Amino acid sequence: MNIKILSRNPNLYSTKRLVEAAQKRKHNVEVIDHLKCDLVIEKRKPSIVYKGELLGDTDAIIPRIGASVTFYGTAVVRQFEMMGAFTTVDSEALVRSRDKLRSLQVLSRAKIGLPKTVFTNYSRETESVIQQVGGTPLVIKLLEGTQGLGVVLAETKNAAKSVIEAFNGLKARVIVQEFIKEAKGADIRAFVVDGHVVGAMKRQGKEGEFRSNLHQGGSAEVIELTDEEEIAAVKAAKAMRLGVAGVDMLQSSRGPLILEVNSSPGLEGIERATGKDIAKTIIRFIEKHV
Ligand SMILES: Nc1ncnc2c1ncn2[C@@H]1O[C@H](COP(=O)(O)OP(=O)(O)O)[C@@H](O)[C@H]1O
Ligand SMILES: [Mg+2]
Repeated sequence: MNIKILSRNPNLYSTKRLVEAAQKRKHNVEVIDHLKCDLVIEKRKPSIVYKGELLGDTDAIIPRIGASVTFYGTAVVRQFEMMGAFTTVDSEALVRSRDKLRSLQVLSRAKIGLPKTVFTNYSRETESVIQQVGGTPLVIKLLEGTQGLGVVLAETKNAAKSVIEAFNGLKARVIVQEFIKEAKGADIRAFVVDGHVVGAMKRQGKEGEFRSNLHQGGSAEVIELTDEEEIAAVKAAKAMRLGVAGVDMLQSSRGPLILEVNSSPGLEGIERATGKDIAKTIIRFIEKHV
């Protein structure tokens, strides 16, 4: 099979592991920088020119599109779809997953547990917004943040008010969310492939930090999910229509609450924590569907 991995950097752990896994299973695999693809659109014959040359036949692609290049990356994925290639991440699902608000709306419709969240058009009714999520402490998140940047815990009403007003003043869009205290600075990442959880880890924020992101100094260990957590992860990936997804959730007194669903989940943390060959699972997923 001809497999292409869309990645800006062939030296990244995830990219290297996917190449390795594909080669081990005797596939032709190539790493393509999606930003260097020119999309040729004409009647019934879509094609891609890569570094000046027409790209050959492609059976499947594995998109690893960074958040900063979602627009162009998605256009490239869509072009491959039009050329008949199978993709581990559908272009529509990719776009959907990149919008925190839209994702929460989709998950809510699918009756999935979520922290109560409010989004407003820079409302001046700050007090009412705070009340809607059950008062403080609460969490304020920049809509387009990643890796824990732009996620703020406001402990008091005054702090919450000033932070919301400051973001509003900057015309930075935020969501306001109830703070899940029981999570104790930890969250769970469930890696879902083709409707099954293939690995899960618990990430714990460093001392005194409520954000568990590994980029913020958190640490990860393997975890056995409860049935409820496993079902929630599978349901969330399905609602987002993602074949490969990293589902992040908090453990709360009312069960698992989904925070976000990642469409380009990294392999390093999860493979190290679980000792599992997740890259191989992704290649086998492609084999099953092509
Ligand atoms: N409502 C919340 N209650 C408790 N902890 C939270 C809440 N929202 C986020 N966190 C913590 O902050 C981290 C980062 O939040 P997240 O929404 O995943 O943003 P990012 O996209 O930047 O990773 C989470 O992994 C979790 O540990
Ligand atoms: Mg996160």
